[in-house]
Amino acid sequence: MKIFIDTANLDEIKRAASLGVIDGVTTNPSLVAKEGVEYKSRIMDICDVVDGSISAECISLELDQLCAEARRVAAWHPNVTVKIPMSEVGLQAMAILSAEGIAINCTLIFSVNQALLAAKAGATYVSPFIGRINDGGADGMQLIRECAEIFSTYPEIKTEILSASIRNPRDVTEVALAGSHIATLPPSVLFQMINHPLTDLGIKAFLKDSESYSPV
Ligand code: E4P
Repeated sequence: MKIFIDTANLDEIKRAASLGVIDGVTTNPSLVAKEGVEYKSRIMDICDVVDGSISAECISLELDQLCAEARRVAAWHPNVTVKIPMSEVGLQAMAILSAEGIAINCTLIFSVNQALLAAKAGATYVSPFIGRINDGGADGMQLIRECAEIFSTYPEIKTEILSASIRNPRDVTEVALAGSHIATLPPSVLFQMINHPLTDLGIKAFLKDSESYSPV
């Protein structure tokens, strides 16, 4: 499973990239707004740090404007994937843009049928928001399982499942078990995944025991 990092914070992206396990980056307008930076320049900075898909969200609501915005954003860098929210206009735009060879991440997916339609419209990725589903009392993981089952049943579907709105390390394990192609993680979750109390205890004990002999 590929791992993306879900942030627009450059320091966090650099720290994550230094681990050698990051395959891409997702951003959204809320994450960019938190940074108080200019949108295009931040996306370009991210492209300099991570060599993989970098999702940049488009916000226009009308078809012509949305397509024009997506073409503009896609032209910023070959690794930019335009993020398009699921909607009737979004589907129309995805059909047009995918035919032009533009990589698309269809975002705000909350049902299998939405994922299926986005795949049919040519989305490169669909992003089910599992945390937000769980927050509402439903089972986000069931959505990943069902998408994975349907996508693998129909080999003509090339769209990848990009599990988003991940809240904790257990979510990462579960989306991997469910067959997600990608998980996009908040930096805090990525760094939590590294640690285990028994690893820390083990390192301490080995260090102590190593004091009884000379190091190589
Ligand atoms: C994914 O592309 C989204 O940016 C993100 O995962 C949303 O997560 P949230 O529900 O924690 O805001």
